[in-house]
Amino acid sequence: ACQLVVAIDGPAGSGKSTVGAEVAKRLGALYFDTGVVYRVLALLALERGIAPDDAERLAQLAQNLSIRVGPPSIQDGRLYDVWLDGRDVTWAIRTPEIDRLASLVSAHPPVRRALLRLQRELARNGRVVIAGRDIGTVVMPEAPVKIWLHASLEERARRRQRDLARRGIVRSLEEIVAELADRDRRDATRAIAPMRPAEDAVIIDTDDRTIEEVVETVLAVVRERC
Ligand code: C5P
Repeated sequence: ACQLVVAIDGPAGSGKSTVGAEVAKRLGALYFDTGVVYRVLALLALERGIAPDDAERLAQLAQNLSIRVGPPSIQDGRLYDVWLDGRDVTWAIRTPEIDRLASLVSAHPPVRRALLRLQRELARNGRVVIAGRDIGTVVMPEAPVKIWLHASLEERARRRQRDLARRGIVRSLEEIVAELADRDRRDATRAIAPMRPAEDAVIIDTDDRTIEEVVETVLAVVRERC
């Protein structure tokens, strides 16, 4: 029997969350977004005044991270709740500042090592859709289904701008393009677990496809491989 693990990787704004959550729903699987782990670490570091280049203290913090992810407790557009030590941090980890800090803290090898087990444990029960940057290559290289979502920088920036606007955050497209490009470059060129498609990943270009079309394509790959 096939252990249903669907790994979805891709850059920011490629549609991992939207597609991943919908695919999980249709498969009756759990959805887990690993970006949450780096975002929570970034938030905690910010609150405790730990600098984003202090690899040692960040790794220590990462060792003891206690995150809980669960079904949405409020209907405010969230796909799921994120709890940190009993505190609802679902939106606190979705600010432009945390976007940038998460990418900075995630580049340290000891931080990634410390968070690897946590991510694998979250995926252990099987029947899971897990999204990130290095799921197919590092976290779950044995996943039977690996997807890489592609989208142009312009399209990703437009999507991000829309998402932010829904939450009342107004930003220019130029600003968002610059931030995404900066984050992509850092995520793709870091020494450890750089963002890239696995050799056996199915690459889906989402630019001219609807969410439903992308979801259908992923489900077709699941049927074929699992
Ligand atoms: O996907 P999301 O935008 O929430 O990820 C935030 C940051 O966390 C990314 O920019 C990346 O630096 C880091 N990340 C990572 N590996 C993952 C998921 C996220 O390095 N598997």
